[in-house]
Amino acid sequence: MRGRFITFEGGEGTGKSTHAATLAARLKSLGLGVRLTREPGGSVGAEIMRHILLSGVAKPLGPEVETVLFAAARDDHLTEVIRPALARGIWVVCDRFADSTRVYQGAVGQVDPRAIRALERVIVGDTMPDLTFILDVPAEQGMQRTAKRRDKPGGPETSDRFEAEAIEFHEKLRDGFLTLAANEPARCVLIDATLPKEQVADQIWRVVNDRLEPTLAPIQLADVSP
Ligand code: TYD
Repeated sequence: MRGRFITFEGGEGTGKSTHAATLAARLKSLGLGVRLTREPGGSVGAEIMRHILLSGVAKPLGPEVETVLFAAARDDHLTEVIRPALARGIWVVCDRFADSTRVYQGAVGQVDPRAIRALERVIVGDTMPDLTFILDVPAEQGMQRTAKRRDKPGGPETSDRFEAEAIEFHEKLRDGFLTLAANEPARCVLIDATLPKEQVADQIWRVVNDRLEPTLAPIQLADVSP
C-alpha cells in the first residue's frame, strides 16, 4: 500500500519544521516507516538549488525564474526521494511543498497562476499531498520568532532571501495561505500556531489520526529516515 504524504505550510516562523519533526517521530513510534524531508531541498540535486534560491543570487532574475528553479528542485526531490518512498509504503512528511510556490511566487510574487498550475501539473502530477497543515501566526509574530532563532547560539547569522522581505510581504503571505486553506478544505487544515507548542502538536496528531488512520496502516519495518 502506498505511503501517505503529509506537508506543512505557512509563513516564516510558524513552527513548521518543529511540528513536521514531532509528527514524524509520533508516526515512527507506531512502527511506521517515515521519511522526514523539506523543500527547497530534500535530495542532493535539490539541496544545490536550495543554496542558489535562498542565497538570493537568483532574485535579480525575477520571480518567474525563481518559480522555475523551485520547480526543478521539486522535480528532483519527487523523483529521488518522495515517489520511491511512497511506493514502498513509507509515510513522507515534508516541510513545505507546492503550496509554497503557489503562495510565495504566485499570490505574493505575482507570477501568473496559469504558469504555476501548468508547472505543478507537469512536475507534481498526481503526487499531491494527502493532507496539508497550514500553520498560521500573525506576520509580526512570525518575524519575531525568526529573529529570535538568529540570536540563538548556532542559529543562522543572517536572514535568507525571503525572511529579509518587509512586513507587508509577510502579511501578504499570511493572506495567501489563509485563502489557500479556505479554498481546499478537503486537503488543507488550518492550525492556529500561536497556541502553545504541545497543543498545536496534539491538534495535528488528532487530525492525522482522524483523516489518515495511521494505526491501521501496514507496519513498514525498513526505516529510511536519515
Ligand atoms: P527555509 O529556511 O526552509 O524557511 P522556513 O523555515 O520558513 O520554511 O527556507 C525556505 C524558503 O523558501 C522560505 O522563505 C519559503 C521559500 N519557498 C518559496 O518561496 N517557494 C517554494 O516553492 C518553496 C518550497 C519555498
